[in-house]
Amino acid sequence: MKIQHHQLRLFGDLNTKRAVNVASVNQYSPFRYPGGKTWLVPFVIQWLMHQPKRPADFIEPFAGGAIIGLTVAIEQLAQHVTLVEIDEQVSAVWKAIIYGDYQRLAQMIIDFELNQENVDRVLSSTYTSVEEQAFQTILRNRVNRGGILAPGAGKVKNGENGKGLKSRWYPQTLYRRIIQIAKVRERITFIQGDGLEFLEQSADRSDVLYFIDPPYTIAGKKAGSRLYTYSDIDHEKLFTIAERLKGEFLMTYDDTSTVREMASRHGFVTEVVTMKNTHHREMTELLISRNLKWLSGSKSG
Ligand SMILES: C[S@@+](CC[C@H](N)C(=O)[O-])C[C@H]1O[C@@H](n2cnc3c(N)ncnc32)[C@H](O)[C@@H]1O
Repeated sequence: MKIQHHQLRLFGDLNTKRAVNVASVNQYSPFRYPGGKTWLVPFVIQWLMHQPKRPADFIEPFAGGAIIGLTVAIEQLAQHVTLVEIDEQVSAVWKAIIYGDYQRLAQMIIDFELNQENVDRVLSSTYTSVEEQAFQTILRNRVNRGGILAPGAGKVKNGENGKGLKSRWYPQTLYRRIIQIAKVRERITFIQGDGLEFLEQSADRSDVLYFIDPPYTIAGKKAGSRLYTYSDIDHEKLFTIAERLKGEFLMTYDDTSTVREMASRHGFVTEVVTMKNTHHREMTELLISRNLKWLSGSKSG
């Protein structure tokens, strides 16, 4: 049975040439993630609506802030969601919420008194419990410029409207999001590990869908190496594995000639989608799949 979706109506007429109004998208992630995919949510829902049946597992092998995977889990668009991420700081957050004492994490956020001294103390500490590590990551994600967790990231000084550190610290919102994810956590599996390896292991499963959003580090576009601690992946290998996947996949990449060439060499189709970046500038990204006929305004198939 095809699944229906209430949110799709709210997005109006989806069009690859017009940036989605991200304010109309429900936000579930506790991260403000560099390269986050809020703008893609309506398209992924559209993709899921076009599947003959609800997938048994929705796999996100480069999860990061997991904006897409969380939407799928919370809105029950798949029976199960599997998130894979290699970064230990990011992983601590998912482990604490999905397997750990999420109440404790949420309470730490509510109880934290935000000032420079407390921020410095937490960010320079070495923690042993996964909840404390998760709290440290969430705080770092909020106070570092652009939400960047990689070494060398700048810190927000005056913040938005000169409000300094507080400009990005919304404890009640973070609390609510953590509780909301925890409510569906029995339907989510989190694995700290290599997304490529996981893809290889699950390649024979035909009842799954993959959303593949790797760090973009292909020649000419080096954004990924500044944004993420782990950004060095073998893109050629990823495309080769994607060819072998029995389940359908949707990949996103920077729109460069190298990526287009690689996609066509592996027999995939591509489509440019307009999005707004964090500075509200219109940009484009490339969607890659075996078939993009379901995409509004798509010319490929
Ligand atoms: C573009 S981001 C994903 C953003 C995510 N789609 C979102 O909306 O929040 C890519 C992620 O891949 C992670 N990563 C890098 N190498 C990896 C690997 N070999 N296996 C799994 N994750 C990896 C990075 O740490 C980063 O979080």
